[in-house]
Amino acid sequence: MSMKRMALLLWLSAVAPLALATPATDAEFARFRAAGAKDFSAMRGSQLWEKTFPAAEGEKRSCTTCHGSDLGKPGKHAKTKKVIDPMAITVNPRRYTDEEKIEKWFKRNCEWVMGQECTAQEKGDILQFLLGAK
Ligand code: HEC
Repeated sequence: MSMKRMALLLWLSAVAPLALATPATDAEFARFRAAGAKDFSAMRGSQLWEKTFPAAEGEKRSCTTCHGSDLGKPGKHAKTKKVIDPMAITVNPRRYTDEEKIEKWFKRNCEWVMGQECTAQEKGDILQFLLGAK
């Protein structure tokens, strides 16, 4: 490996953790706090991500139904079967860069999975979890 390449890799490994929050997610966390959320927990977020909720006719739904459990890998839409890009920001830096997109999908997906919108606390916990995913 060339010195230049080595230096670039070292630099990348040094700055990569800083990339784990985007202006959009900072704004989202502020919005969730303003709506009454307290400290955000990746642990709670992870539990919610995996939790299954009953739907019609014995069907079970969770966030993993489409996104999977390994956030570094692509998911697959349960209905359309379309590939969904990985959720981990480490492999997909376009994630969580647009507040409107984040809100739109939280709303749609929480309703589909849990039968109701997520609270600000739940959204913050999940976002915290997603941002830390490898
Ligand atoms: C029925 C399939 C499906 C399920 C189940 C699902 N999602 Fe999604 N989700 C999508 C699709 C499709 C997109 C938009 C395409 C994309 O961003 O790759 C998306 C995007 C998102 C985004 C936006 C990411 C960004 O880059 O801004 C968030 C946040 C999200 N989902 C959270 C959740 C949460 C939380 C759950 C569980 C409550 C969940 N999703 C369950 C299909 C699903």
